[in-house]
Amino acid sequence: MNKKPQTALIHAPRKAPQYISTVQPPLFRASTIIFNNTDALFNRSWGDDYDYSYGTHGTPTTFTLGDNIAQIEGGAYCLLAPSGLSAINLVNCCFLAQGDEVWVADNIYGPNMEHLRNLQARCGIEVKVYNPLDAETFQPTEKAKLIWLEAAGSVTLEFPDLTGLVKKAKAHSILTALDNTWGAGLAFNAFDFGAEHLSVDMTVHALTKYPSGGGDMLMGSVVTRDKSLHRQLFRMHAIQGISISGDDAAQVQRSLASMQLRYEHQSQSALSLMNWLKQQPEFAQVLHPADPESAGHAYWKEVCRDGHSAGLVSVIFKPEYAMQDIRAFCDALSLFKLGFSWGGPLSLVMLYDLKTMRALQHTHLQQGLLVRFCIGLEHPQDLIQDIENALKQLKRPQIE
Ligand SMILES: Cc1ncc(COP(=O)(O)O)c(C=O)c1O
Repeated sequence: MNKKPQTALIHAPRKAPQYISTVQPPLFRASTIIFNNTDALFNRSWGDDYDYSYGTHGTPTTFTLGDNIAQIEGGAYCLLAPSGLSAINLVNCCFLAQGDEVWVADNIYGPNMEHLRNLQARCGIEVKVYNPLDAETFQPTEKAKLIWLEAAGSVTLEFPDLTGLVKKAKAHSILTALDNTWGAGLAFNAFDFGAEHLSVDMTVHALTKYPSGGGDMLMGSVVTRDKSLHRQLFRMHAIQGISISGDDAAQVQRSLASMQLRYEHQSQSALSLMNWLKQQPEFAQVLHPADPESAGHAYWKEVCRDGHSAGLVSVIFKPEYAMQDIRAFCDALSLFKLGFSWGGPLSLVMLYDLKTMRALQHTHLQQGLLVRFCIGLEHPQDLIQDIENALKQLKRPQIE
C-alpha cells in the first residue's frame, strides 16, 4: 500500500530487532498490547499472572521486576503498585470488609493508620492498636481478620516481637501483613525467619526506598507465597486498575543490582553514626535496633541474624530543648537535607513530636522532640561532622 506520510510515520517499515542480548532486559511500554489474531484475543486469560492483553495487567518489563522483588523477599508472587502506600491500601481493600477487626502496631507507618481509620469511619471496620514489643497487647476477637506488622517500626525503630505476634496470629487464623520496607528482603527473610522458620502471609514494600535507591521515584509491591492469597490480591489489583509504567519498572530493575551493596553501606554508616550520637550530651536517647539499649534489640537479634539494620537512626533530644531549638539544629545541617523518605543517595533529616504520634503510653521512650536521620551514600565521617557543626549552633538550655 502506498501510505501517506502521516500513516507511514505510525506504520514504519523498519522494526528494531526484538531478540538481542543486553545487560538490562528490554523495556516494554504499553497500554495497548496487540493480539496477533482473533484466536489470541479470544484465548486471552485475564486471570493469568502473565497475561499480555492490556497495559494495566503488566508487560514483560513489569513482570520481570515483580519476579525479582518476590525472589529478593523470599516469596513467590508479586504485584506492583504506584507507591508503597497504594500497595498498603491494596492489602486493606482486598482483605477487610464491614465488621472485621484489624490490628495495627502503634509504630506503624502513619498513613497506613490513617487509611485504616478512614475505613473505620466509612466502612465499619474496627481498628485496634497493639504494642509491637508486647504480644500480650494483641488480643484478637473472633472478628479479627488482619494484623499489620512493621520491623523495625516507623520513626521510633522498635523491632517487634515478630515471633510472638506471628505465632499468635496463626493460632487465631488471622492474616499477617508485614511492612518490609526497612528490611527490604535483605535484613531477614519474612517468609522464613527465626529458629522456628515462621512466615508472614504477605509483605508490602515501598520500592520507593532501597530498591529505587534514587530518591526520585515512587513504587510499591505486595509479595506472597500463597497462591490463593495472591489470586485475591491479583483480582483486586486488576479491578482497581492499579498499575505502574514500564519506564519506572525499568529504572527500579536497573537499581536492583546495586541494592545490597547500598543497603550494607548505609547500614554500616548508620551504625557509625549511632555509636557517635550515643556519646553526645544533647540527646536523651538514641534509637536503633542494633543498639543493645534500644527496645526490641533482642527481637532484632533473633530475626536479623546477619546483623543488618538499614540506614535509619533516630534521636530524642533532652526535654530542655524546645521546638525552636530543634528547628535551628535541623536548619543548621548542611549535608542532611530536610525531607521525607529514605533509601536514596542523599542523607535526610526529619523532626517529629512523638506526643502527637502514638496511641499507647510507652515507658521505653523518653520525653523530648525526635529527629530521624536517614543515611545516604555520603561518607559517614562527613555526616558526623555535619551533625557536630549543627549541634554547635544549638542554643544551650538554661540548666539551673
Ligand atoms: C515504612 C514505610 N512504608 C511505606 C511507605 C510508603 O511508601 P511510598 O512513599 O512509596 O508511598 C513509607 C514511606 O515513607 C514508609 O516509610
